[in-house]
Amino acid sequence: MELKDKSSIPNHVAIIMDGNGRWAKQKGFDRIYGHSNGVESVRESIKAAREFNIKYLTLYAFSTENWNRPKEEIAALMDLLVSTILAEIAELSENDVQLRTIGNLELLPENCKNTLKEAVEKTASNKGLTLVLALSYSSRWEITNAVQSIVKKGYKHNEITEELVSSYLNTAGIPEPELLIRTSGEQRISNFLLWQIAYTEFYFTEVHWPDFNRDEFIKAILEYQNRERRFGKISEQINA
Ligand code: FPP
Repeated sequence: MELKDKSSIPNHVAIIMDGNGRWAKQKGFDRIYGHSNGVESVRESIKAAREFNIKYLTLYAFSTENWNRPKEEIAALMDLLVSTILAEIAELSENDVQLRTIGNLELLPENCKNTLKEAVEKTASNKGLTLVLALSYSSRWEITNAVQSIVKKGYKHNEITEELVSSYLNTAGIPEPELLIRTSGEQRISNFLLWQIAYTEFYFTEVHWPDFNRDEFIKAILEYQNRERRFGKISEQINA
């Protein structure tokens, strides 16, 4: 599958990677096998984003709610995160990918925090793609946190603008996503980027995350481009 129309590529794509557990279960494996296979889809998505010159890719890797999962699964996910970053850091740099994180990182295990910090520092000057990992992230936490900081700074009520609120979110400086993809059939937002998706197009696919690849990414962009073409026009204009 190829992406012929390069004119309206989203600048920022956000992905809710879902369905690792179901994918593994269907194949008779444990959930963690699904997560390990999900890493390949992460690699493919980063590669595709670079190929299509997408500038920001935000991945919902671990939500605040995910802390309620069995502790073995949490530990496996954290290990996977550390081993993947260590294994991929060189290639990320070679491909001009900058790593950034959003979320309440304080809650992550020490080795995970350190690995992330190092990878963020090492890739800070890269300009091709900003890969934003949402870890221990929830949008309500992020917004609450922003409000607390704004109040602490002593802003007057009439100084509080949308721009000011945006600048206190973890995503400060990151443009809003044009496209949000969620895999595995669920059609909900699950506390992800609530403020930032005010004008975002949503794309839901039945495909489980470990089966998500370059072709699936292209399908999402094609759907986005179809919607773009309809933007602001009446149906007679489109049919003409
Ligand atoms: C959703 O599937 C997936 C996650 C909560 C974790 C995603 C993590 C990875 C793909 C691996 C590590 C990531 C990086 C960035 C290196 P689920 O467990 O919710 O599946 P289910 O809905 O079928 O139970």
